[in-house]
Amino acid sequence: MKRNLALFLKILFIVSATELLIMAAFSFFRITPILSAFLDTMLLATISAPFIYLLIRAELEYCRMKDEALENTGKKNSVLLGAIGEGLYGMDMSGNVMFANKAAEAILGYPENELIGKHSHELFHHTRPDGSVYPAHECNIYATSRDGKPRRISDEVFWKKDGSSIPVEYSATPVIEAGAITGVLIAFNDITERKRAEDEQAKLAEVLKQSYDSVIITDMEGIILYVNPAFEKHTGFAAQEVLGKKPSVCKSGLQDANYYKRLWDTIKAGGIWSGRLSNKRKDGSIIEMDAIIFPIKNAYVQMTNYAAVQRDVSTEVALENQLRQSQKMESIGLLAGGIAHDFNNILMAITGYSQFLSNKLAPGSQEASDLEEIKKAADRAVSLTRQLLIFSRKTAVTPKVLDLAEVIQNIQKMLKRLIGENIEFQIDTGDSPKCIKADPSHIEQVLLNLSVNAKDAMPHGGKLSISVSNTVLDGKSPIELTAAKPGEYVLLRVSDTGTGMSNELISKIFEPFFTTKGPGKGTGLGLSTVYGIVKQGGGYITVDSAPGKGSTFNIYFPAAELQLERSEAVRPEVEDAKIKATILLVDDDNSVRSLAHRALIEKGFVVLDFATAEEALALSESYKDKIDLLLADVGLPGISGFKLSKKISEKRPGIKSVFMSGRIDPEILKSELITGKTSFLQKPVTMDILVETVTKAIRAA
Ligand SMILES: Nc1ncnc2c1ncn2[C@@H]1O[C@H](COP(=O)(O)OP(=O)(O)OP(=O)(O)O)[C@@H](O)[C@H]1O
Ligand SMILES: [Mg+2]
Repeated sequence: MKRNLALFLKILFIVSATELLIMAAFSFFRITPILSAFLDTMLLATISAPFIYLLIRAELEYCRMKDEALENTGKKNSVLLGAIGEGLYGMDMSGNVMFANKAAEAILGYPENELIGKHSHELFHHTRPDGSVYPAHECNIYATSRDGKPRRISDEVFWKKDGSSIPVEYSATPVIEAGAITGVLIAFNDITERKRAEDEQAKLAEVLKQSYDSVIITDMEGIILYVNPAFEKHTGFAAQEVLGKKPSVCKSGLQDANYYKRLWDTIKAGGIWSGRLSNKRKDGSIIEMDAIIFPIKNAYVQMTNYAAVQRDVSTEVALENQLRQSQKMESIGLLAGGIAHDFNNILMAITGYSQFLSNKLAPGSQEASDLEEIKKAADRAVSLTRQLLIFSRKTAVTPKVLDLAEVIQNIQKMLKRLIGENIEFQIDTGDSPKCIKADPSHIEQVLLNLSVNAKDAMPHGGKLSISVSNTVLDGKSPIELTAAKPGEYVLLRVSDTGTGMSNELISKIFEPFFTTKGPGKGTGLGLSTVYGIVKQGGGYITVDSAPGKGSTFNIYFPAAELQLERSEAVRPEVEDAKIKATILLVDDDNSVRSLAHRALIEKGFVVLDFATAEEALALSESYKDKIDLLLADVGLPGISGFKLSKKISEKRPGIKSVFMSGRIDPEILKSELITGKTSFLQKPVTMDILVETVTKAIRAA
């Protein structure tokens, strides 16, 4: 500016001086008016020249300064564009790249000169993520150039120079100049990392979704923030019902406060708690869970959440309980069976000898009535022993195919009388046959025992319902039947509206001699007999009951083919006619042996009796005459009754055999009694039946 002023003054001085000189010269010479006008114009031009010059200089200076400012802004802009991490490029209305920043070059792998002027869509935006062609007229960036609306897209890919694709998120902003769209500015990011993280998260979310284990995430206050579908499935609660609540919605109360305190103490201290939780489903039923509960920490190792991963082990727990229960029943069965076996021999002697004695006593005498009492007591003991044997499944059974519905119909009158007037009685047997293979007397026993129990549980009246139905046990069966053999079954259901039972009580009711009834009121053998019968028939029994809620006994008998066998009269007719025959009697129990000996002799048989199989064998070897029948105890010491029979039959092919036993595995019995020449007597047996069976066997062809 100073320079310009100096220049201006300099020019003004020169011009003024020049003018003064010209004016002086004109005053000496006389000049024409044309020359004078010319000189005046020249003078004016000379005087105005510096001003024009100055004006031009000022304009030039202004332009230079403007250019400099622009250049500075351009430099600044390009520094800025270069510094932006986001890829940026401009597109004109023909789709060509106008400019691109460094980040765009780096992301796309094209140097700037390979981008500028190129058709952006054709160069790096031509194909969709799924590999399909992306026509330019569908392109979102082009759409912005058409309608001027900004767009933000995050599910497309750009293609790099090396041919690979990158997932991008971009924004397309229209460039508007003088009210018209002149291009689009595109800012984009390579979101490969973000996509990978999202994919990773999606995978984990899918695993959580598909997981069989239930997962719960809470905040630090224990408020539920997330549950997976397995949780919903296991507990019956929908996610929405528990979000915002505490996990205690599933608390069953089966674990005490200390148990939960230890859990919380562990996780609050940053530790991992693992253990079994008995939780409550929405419907109130119990679900057994193996759980791991732990805190979740953030990048700064601060606890931000708690998480629980829980596995439903209800089936395993039920199976463990069932196994424990069946092992318990098995060992009690062994014990009971052993006792019953010894009792049988004793009882046979008592009843047998009482019978001999009663034949000799005058009817109506004091002695005869005393003896009657002894016999009655012995009979009661016999019946108890029989029940014990049924429980231990060591009785000979004669199963037949029968229609359970028919059996129920047949004894319903008797049951009705038994339960009395003030209990409503309902039977539902359906229309179709419900065939099972069982001993009819056993089934009657089951119905009787369950009905009596129901009656006892309803002292003030109520309702007893008995129903039968055909059913199938499969994977969807109740949990207590998880171990059951899948197949067709007949379900006998006996329900009452009585006192009901606690779980603790239910775990004991099938044990022999377990009773809650007062002395003299119950022996505790009713349900153990039922249990033995059901188990022997390959069936299952479950109980649904709760105190005050009544009880339902569900018995599943394996279904049998429909070929009903009518049961014959079990008892053989008593035959008085004496027959001449020789019997080889072998029993190690002296009282039973002498009792049988005496009964058989009284009927006219020739009896050769021995305590051991070895002695009997020796006799068979040396005895010259015919032996018609071998009457042997099965459980002889050394050689068993069955083996003895086989050995004797080798030498005496026509010999018949009758076996006796107080305790025998029905499977063994089934495999041994193959021929029509053998029969079996379950001890204790009355002498009448023993004689009849022997007689019948000898007479049989
Ligand atoms: N329907 C029922 N309702 C409530 N409790 C029952 C029912 N059935 C059985 N119980 C309980 O189970 C116990 C055992 O029953 P179980 O039939 O084995 O023996 P009991 O009835 O006591 O004697 P017993 O049948 O030998 O006369 C009973 O004492 C009773 O406590
Ligand atoms: Mg009973």
